[in-house]
Amino acid sequence: MTDEKPKEETQEVSEEEPTAEEPEKKPLPKPGAARAKAPKVAPKKEEKYLSRLFEVENGHDLDVYEKHGGYQALRKAMKMSGEEIIEEVKKSNLRGRGGAGFPCGIKWSFLPKESDVPKYLVINADEGEPGTFKDRYLMVLDPHRHIEGCIIAAWALGIRYCYIFVRGEMQFAIRRLEKAIKQCYEKGYLGKNILGSGFDFDIYVHPGAGAYICGEETGLIEGLEGKSGQPRMKPPFPAVVGVFQAPTIVNNVETISSIPFIIENGGEWFAEMGIEKNGGPKLYGLSGPIQRPGVYEAPSGITVGELLERYGGGMLPGHDLKAYIPGGSSCAVLTPDKLDAEMGFETMREAGSSMGTACITFMDTDTCMVRVAARLAHFYHHESCGQCTPCREGTGWAAKVLDQIEAGTGRREDLDLLLDMCDNIQGNTICALGDSIAIPVRSYIQVFTEEFEEHITRRGCWFPAWSRRQRQARSDAA
Ligand SMILES: Cc1cc2nc3c(=O)[nH]c(=O)nc-3n(C[C@H](O)[C@H](O)[C@H](O)COP(=O)(O)O)c2cc1C
Ligand code: SF4
Repeated sequence: MTDEKPKEETQEVSEEEPTAEEPEKKPLPKPGAARAKAPKVAPKKEEKYLSRLFEVENGHDLDVYEKHGGYQALRKAMKMSGEEIIEEVKKSNLRGRGGAGFPCGIKWSFLPKESDVPKYLVINADEGEPGTFKDRYLMVLDPHRHIEGCIIAAWALGIRYCYIFVRGEMQFAIRRLEKAIKQCYEKGYLGKNILGSGFDFDIYVHPGAGAYICGEETGLIEGLEGKSGQPRMKPPFPAVVGVFQAPTIVNNVETISSIPFIIENGGEWFAEMGIEKNGGPKLYGLSGPIQRPGVYEAPSGITVGELLERYGGGMLPGHDLKAYIPGGSSCAVLTPDKLDAEMGFETMREAGSSMGTACITFMDTDTCMVRVAARLAHFYHHESCGQCTPCREGTGWAAKVLDQIEAGTGRREDLDLLLDMCDNIQGNTICALGDSIAIPVRSYIQVFTEEFEEHITRRGCWFPAWSRRQRQARSDAA
């Protein structure tokens, strides 16, 4: 263990929260001002890594994976020592892809080398963050790359067992992983004496029960142990006291799927495909009223504008970009003048938000920002595990006050009340779910103040309803 404290692990969201400077108050974007142009060029054909097998027939099968060079990185890793592998991962600038962005190599170096009990690797495949949908592609379309990454990590760290904790709803991913694991046992990549090395390693797939809080690493560990997913106080961090009280590394699916490439090509090669402190190719999920929503692979540090135009094909005809969130619903909202922000943990913080899971949600000028904030508050209230008063009560109050503003019964002082609630929640809870509501709600109010105020002065919302149910509720209220 080094004495460097893994601070980011406690505050997944606050690591990237806007710094002391408050986001600037922005005038409402003028209609048409940010209309994205039709794509000039189709996405250029580029070397693919993480998504290499996504379009290959039966890419999820062991034979096909091996034909494309699969399990060669494992063979190479088994000729390296654990320290050498950790060093390469450190050099690679691979940041955790689950949202907090903690440097993977540094996290690995926190795991004690010696332990009286078996050490564990736990893969966070819960993928519950609204707007995030990349890990499921890796599990369904390229499960062997992920498993190869798990075996390399275990070899490097002296880990005996691995649990892949998959959101229970993702049955297809679960079946694909289980089939791939079975193939690995048959081929000698898993089990006893892997490839004649004397190394034993087992992987189990554990379906979760669908609670967002089980994506938080200690909530997940509690869930694995059969308890309700209530996050633990940190420290101790999982690397020291994790699942079954044993030293545990928790990593995201995409983080571990990147490991075979680092071993194959070296840490420096990986680092070069990015910007300072943020290495490697990565997956970006693009959603909203855009021409080509989906999952795309591109280097770290690409700008949001390039992702939108070149990969997403720009906004749909007749839709103007009003705002975007860079990496899941717990990020602060950004406006179109920030499209040149680079997708990196530090660069996104400079832009006033956070990189999060790098799955970007674009919103058009028909989107009501009060309604978005209210919807988020309801979600986080529903998903709060209830241990901390600021989170349990604050999320519910925020949802009620935001509903009132949208319904036209809000007061000007409610905005100050909401900001005050956000200040009281953020940083005062056991896990970062509290921050996940405070940061976005504060940002929607501060960035779109005029829109919130207009809801109060006009006594209601003038944006189109999102659903028939909402239209009905409105006419019932009228
Ligand atoms: C409320 C909450 C939900 C989270 N959900 C996920 C998730 O679904 N998947 C994930 O990988 N990380 C999630 N995280 C982050 C994990 O706690 C942890 O940082 C991550 O799994 C570590 O892996 P990484 O370093 O490879 O990113 C969540 C964090 C919080 C606070
Ligand atoms: S912040 Fe919310 S979800 Fe996290 S431990 Fe506290 S009550 Fe539970």
